[in-house]
Amino acid sequence: MSNSYVKFYSGDTIPLELHKTRIVQKLHLVPIERRLEALNEGGYNTFGLKTTDVFLDMLTDSGTNAMSDEQLSAMMRADDAYAGSQSFIRLQKAVEEVLDLKYYLPTHQGRAAENILACAYIRKGNRIPMNYHFTTALAHITEKGGQIAELLYPEAYRLKSSHPFKGNMNLEALEEYIQKHGKQNIPFIRMEASTNLIGGQPFSIENFRAVRSIANKHGIRIVLDACLLGENAYLVKQREEEFKNCPLAEIIKIMTGLADVVYFSARKLSSSRGGGIGTNSETIYKELEALVPLYEGFLTYGGISVREIEAMAVGLYETQDETVISQSPSFIAYLVNEAEKNGIPMVTPPGVLGAHVNAMEFCSHIPQTQYPAGCLAAAFFLVSGIRGMERGSISNQRDEYGNETFADMELLRLAVPRRVFTLSQINYVLDRLEWLYENRELIGGLKFVYEPPVLRFFMGRLAPVSDWPQKLMAKFREDFGDSL
Ligand code: F0G
Repeated sequence: MSNSYVKFYSGDTIPLELHKTRIVQKLHLVPIERRLEALNEGGYNTFGLKTTDVFLDMLTDSGTNAMSDEQLSAMMRADDAYAGSQSFIRLQKAVEEVLDLKYYLPTHQGRAAENILACAYIRKGNRIPMNYHFTTALAHITEKGGQIAELLYPEAYRLKSSHPFKGNMNLEALEEYIQKHGKQNIPFIRMEASTNLIGGQPFSIENFRAVRSIANKHGIRIVLDACLLGENAYLVKQREEEFKNCPLAEIIKIMTGLADVVYFSARKLSSSRGGGIGTNSETIYKELEALVPLYEGFLTYGGISVREIEAMAVGLYETQDETVISQSPSFIAYLVNEAEKNGIPMVTPPGVLGAHVNAMEFCSHIPQTQYPAGCLAAAFFLVSGIRGMERGSISNQRDEYGNETFADMELLRLAVPRRVFTLSQINYVLDRLEWLYENRELIGGLKFVYEPPVLRFFMGRLAPVSDWPQKLMAKFREDFGDSL
């Protein structure tokens, strides 16, 4: 049963934590003056901040989900061996039992799997249709000379929506795209479970089945990015009539069964580190096998520490547990719904991974050339100590001629890693967000002062176009006195 089924006598519907905290970590809520210094030191990029200056780290759920007692204890029995480790055999068994995949190739994380798939399958001029890109997937595809096409329904781009499956592939557009470019130029169709960059939005199994039949008709493979497979399965159970009584374990298997290749970041999927590629096709396995020792490590560790391999195996079994998987989406739903009540523009319906604030509307006075989502991320850190992530034009890459490409959406992502935060911390997020919304006119623009050529959002440095951070800080002091 998911925690959303616990009813309070008072009538309140708050997401109840079905776990207890046994290891705790001290957090640092430093004064706003120090937070401003930290922003300057970090180039107004939240990737440049140190956790000693961060109160709630909502940058990502990647590698930051809480690990379970079972995972930590499994790490102690790790079998260190270059080849044939028992730990790896346990992981292989978990991949087979949970994901229903016979062959598994380990990689050190998700993007390493993307590199291997790109090396094996993408040639110059190839086209890859998908239900939206992810930054690292796009970078690997374009590096090999491929081009992507994002084939979503118009509803996906409407930030305020009640559509339950905004991550659905546009089937008519997919069919047309294949006719236009020819199946020989399309090495695979990429489906991403809970489309990250449009607000962690899921696809339905009905849609995925239809993609499968189009793929079958043309003889094209499907690659499933399964980073947030558990959460997508959870939302299928919540939102798709056919699966409302279906155990999560079964929904997960139905989804992996519709793909030819399944790859994932274990930093997300199994609350550990690592990643990998799975398939039931011996041919595909053979096509990829040689690349793992070349780029990652031997086939029975793939660059992952054996301790993490043990944690990954246990974490995979835990993705079948609804009390584990529902925790983050139910906190996200709480955050989004409460913020909406206060008029804050949020991406709806609530998705997975995090709550997403519509920066284009929040900062409607800031032009896209000055990166509204980056400005909101910096301003929100300044007034709260909460570190979110820019998911807008800074996260986009320039086109082949070096021109800026503006993102479809300017979002501030506030990640809610599994079983990490308490509800009072989420209430603090809401409180500071509300204050900033009331004072949004004080937020100003940003410009790049150092822009690396690849994945610029990671290492890029920016600067404010005016003294707006000082003004925002002064207003904070006026309203909050000497409070942190
Ligand atoms: N695919 C998706 C959908 C992802 O969200 C990520 C990572 C990756 C691939 C790459 O995996 O980090 O293990 O190499 N997303 C993280 C995030 C970084 O914060 O959303 P990785």
